[in-house]
Amino acid sequence: MKALIDKLAEGVSLSDGELGLLIEGGEGEYLRERAEKVRIAHYGREVYLRGLIELTNYCGNNCLYCGIRAGNRRVRRYRLSPEEILACCERGYRLGFRTFVLQGGEDPAFTDSVLCPIVESIKSRWPDCALTLSLGERSRESYRRLREAGADRYLLRHETADREHYGRLHPAAMSFDNRMACLYQLKELGYQTGCGFMVGSPGQTTAALVRDLRFIREFEPEMVGIGPFLPHGETPFGDRPAGSLTLTLRLLALVRLLLPRVLLPATTALGTLHPEGRELGILHGANVVMPNLSPPEARENYMLYDNKLNTGAEEAGGLEELARRLEKTGYQAVVSRGDHRKP
Ligand code: 5AD
Repeated sequence: MKALIDKLAEGVSLSDGELGLLIEGGEGEYLRERAEKVRIAHYGREVYLRGLIELTNYCGNNCLYCGIRAGNRRVRRYRLSPEEILACCERGYRLGFRTFVLQGGEDPAFTDSVLCPIVESIKSRWPDCALTLSLGERSRESYRRLREAGADRYLLRHETADREHYGRLHPAAMSFDNRMACLYQLKELGYQTGCGFMVGSPGQTTAALVRDLRFIREFEPEMVGIGPFLPHGETPFGDRPAGSLTLTLRLLALVRLLLPRVLLPATTALGTLHPEGRELGILHGANVVMPNLSPPEARENYMLYDNKLNTGAEEAGGLEELARRLEKTGYQAVVSRGDHRKP
């Protein structure tokens, strides 16, 4: 196992069988140390902050795992106004955030003519900030307009690189091919692009995770979002077990070795699964955290899974608390755009 971990760290290309062995476990501490070392070589002990703003929980999709799926009638739906969005950025900027992430369900109300002026206002008011969008599948033309308006980055998790597994997580109306096509369009348009997947989603096999690693290696995204699957009671997967902490940490470390310069968040889902999940993520190669800047009513209703961490960065010293916890882990939250470092 140590020899396999070394091979991965040296950039040697591995067979599916070897990747499967790496995923399935062994020498966890050795893997963690290698991943941490690579992370420190490229990004030191700095942790980049992203201020997450949850624009809308309206969503036209009906993903079987997700709490804000269209079919969940129990969600109180909301959307933020442009003024509310700018107010979140204003607060975030004062707190030291230099990247804002506008995330939301696939809400038809957020047309290009609504979004582009918001993107332009943010970029002109805070020209030293990066702007990330995470608004699902849109047309190539829409991605182009938003990029032109000033968006720097786009997050679109591929969810799983295994076509059959994708089919079991999503309704027939959703297309694996379209999701992949969107990712390639984003990259081609010059976005710093992020893909990603859940660990332990229902029916996920080692073979599916091997495909995820292969896809990530080939696509070479600037960012990768990985978190455990967590059940939401009002979804068809409400009684399925959560993904494993150990396996999620293992995949973070493997992705760090696969793409040494990747921007890799210790996700909210990881922090929800375990009280020290985010710190553990950082220790396994993650270099980004994304505190929530959404107003309280938005945070309460943007429930992708049960018990989602719901403390805001701005409340009761939430951000200072996070910074203190990172410092205790040996890391430092920094005021920076935190761009991907090109080789
Ligand atoms: N558990 C964990 N992650 C989830 N997401 C959606 N629902 C869940 C869940 N039940 C993730 C998806 C999506 C991102 C915004 O949140 O991967 O892309």
